[in-house]
Amino acid sequence: MNGTKLRRRKAPKNAKAGNPEKEVDSEESELEFDFDLWKYTKILAVPLLLAIGVAYYLNPTIFTDAMQSYLGLSEQELAKMVPVLEFPIDFSANVHRRDAVVRAFQHAWLAYERDAMGNDEYHPISHEGTNLTDAGGIGYTVVDSIDTMLLMGLDQEYSRAREWVATKMDFERNATFNTFETVIRVLGGLLSAYHFSGEDSLYLEKAIDLADRIIPAFNTPSRLPLSNINLALREGAIDPNWPQFVSSAEVATLQLEFRYLSVLSRNTLYWEKAETVMHVLKNSLMPHGLASIFLNWYNGEFVLSTLRLGSRADSYYEYLLKQYLQTNNTEVFYRDMYTNAMDAVHKTLIKKSANSVLTYTSELVPEKHPDGQISWRLTPKQDHLVCFFGGSLLLGATTAGALVHPVSVPPRAGELSEQGKRDWETGISLIKTCMATHDTATGLAPEIAHFRIPSDGIGHDPQYPSDWYIKGAHTRPGELPPYDARYILRPETVESLFLAFRLTGDEMYREWAWRIFEAIEKHCRVETGGYASIINVDEIPSRKEDKMETFMMSETLKYLYLIFADANVLPLDKYVLNTEAHPLPIFDIPPKFKDLVQRNPMLSHPILE
Ligand SMILES: *[C@@H]1O[C@H](CO)[C@@H](O)[C@H](O)[C@H]1NC(C)=O
Ligand SMILES: *[C@@H]1O[C@H](CO)[C@@H](O)[C@H](O)[C@H]1NC(C)=O
Ligand SMILES: *[C@@H]1O[C@H](CO)[C@@H](O)[C@H](O)[C@H]1NC(C)=O
Repeated sequence: MNGTKLRRRKAPKNAKAGNPEKEVDSEESELEFDFDLWKYTKILAVPLLLAIGVAYYLNPTIFTDAMQSYLGLSEQELAKMVPVLEFPIDFSANVHRRDAVVRAFQHAWLAYERDAMGNDEYHPISHEGTNLTDAGGIGYTVVDSIDTMLLMGLDQEYSRAREWVATKMDFERNATFNTFETVIRVLGGLLSAYHFSGEDSLYLEKAIDLADRIIPAFNTPSRLPLSNINLALREGAIDPNWPQFVSSAEVATLQLEFRYLSVLSRNTLYWEKAETVMHVLKNSLMPHGLASIFLNWYNGEFVLSTLRLGSRADSYYEYLLKQYLQTNNTEVFYRDMYTNAMDAVHKTLIKKSANSVLTYTSELVPEKHPDGQISWRLTPKQDHLVCFFGGSLLLGATTAGALVHPVSVPPRAGELSEQGKRDWETGISLIKTCMATHDTATGLAPEIAHFRIPSDGIGHDPQYPSDWYIKGAHTRPGELPPYDARYILRPETVESLFLAFRLTGDEMYREWAWRIFEAIEKHCRVETGGYASIINVDEIPSRKEDKMETFMMSETLKYLYLIFADANVLPLDKYVLNTEAHPLPIFDIPPKFKDLVQRNPMLSHPILE
């Protein structure tokens, strides 16, 4: 077909009413048609509209190209204007793909149930379960999976899981459990199960029992919770590897769960404990505005340690935003902390790969010199965990960074603040980068990706791609690949794809998610049941490792399900997902709690708008 002919200036007139193009066009029209305008308009309208439709179908950028040549807009400016084309956004379910995800969930759950019901963790190749401690399980896998069953409508699986919670689940375990993991998986899972089961009181009773056992972890001089908790003795315990420290993510990723539990139980204690942590952190923040990965639990001060968005810091940033969202965008305290943190992240951690194609987040590692000076070494290393961040930035841009509520899908440039626009663009780029790290032999992304920088000493070694690589992955046959090369069924990329699809309506994100799902099916699926991690994403046939992390059922398959389900299933203005993908309802702060937050003695400025 003849593209040049259709690439006339007429096209944009129909693309957007009211832009300057229109005037040019009407001038042309007058010249051609002034003898019998009405008649010709009628005769020409149908073929013209058809031609425009065909042109758009064959080359969707035709209008933007034409507009660009006329208005001289940059690619990026145009990208922001795409919504003016009003192409239809379809949020209805992709039933075929959604149901394939449900079958995958059943494949995972039924194997676990058959081999290891009630055990904390599952090993699908040996068909065995294990517990986190010798004292017996705490329902780690069962509770982590319940809300996914409820969302998917798996009634039979659900009723057996509920039965287990009612009759077998027991927190009277004399052993130490990780405070943060127990809160996000078990407490979060119980709260979400309570909500989606139509407020079955079983789950609330269990949640209160568990939370009461965890609360003593907060009894420290700084009021930061200790890393571990003995559930039977109700005593906090230090992490023997880091006896003086707690990590930022661990202390700042309990708040959504405790706050919601307070509202449900009408007991302000949980809220108060969790909220106080945030004020301790705020008062300790260093001038750069970022949270280093460690804090001293005795004095509540940040410790000189790595700055990054990956492990031990990731969900600190995630929960700054989500605490603001949880109470329906009312606590400006969190919005301000979040906005400041995002400014700092952009200033120091957002980088571009050597040939400037991929945007990524780097790490800054402090180094102390003999003369006492400290310098920061840039490490171009991004954990797969960081792939939550692209979606989180989009969510932040359309809420904390929005000038109107709700914003359009996708948001228009005028609806976002300057920071919102910046965060939106970074978010979109980071998601692309996370997808680029799936460019491996299996189509799955490694645990850790390194990005090329001029000083990495690799030069033009053809073994290394030009943008990113897996460190130490070129092992000899028989050697075990490095830790970095694994894929352990992590959810963070599909989490971002879910948010990106909901906030842009762009079908491309569904396609990307489907590709990841297919790669999981191909390389991680264990034929006898369950899914396993693989030890090297760049090796075919892939070698499996005998472990199915609980987040496979609570997060990875839930996000995949939500991507292909109808958007009414979990509207983003009604729910906030905890860091283990347990959705919690957004609520208005009850008056009793308003007093509580305003009275907080550590508060430096009002918390409510
Ligand atoms: C794990 O704990 C559960 C519940 O206490 C128990 O039934 C099971 O036997 C334990 N598993 C192992 C491998 O010890
Ligand atoms: C808890 O375990 C510790 C060490 O394993 C033991 O010394 C203590 O007696 C136990 N306490 C109870 C109440 O079972
Ligand atoms: C949040 O606030 C908006 C606007 O004030 C209101 O319309 C909406 O119902 C609130 N949502 C919830 C879940 O309370």
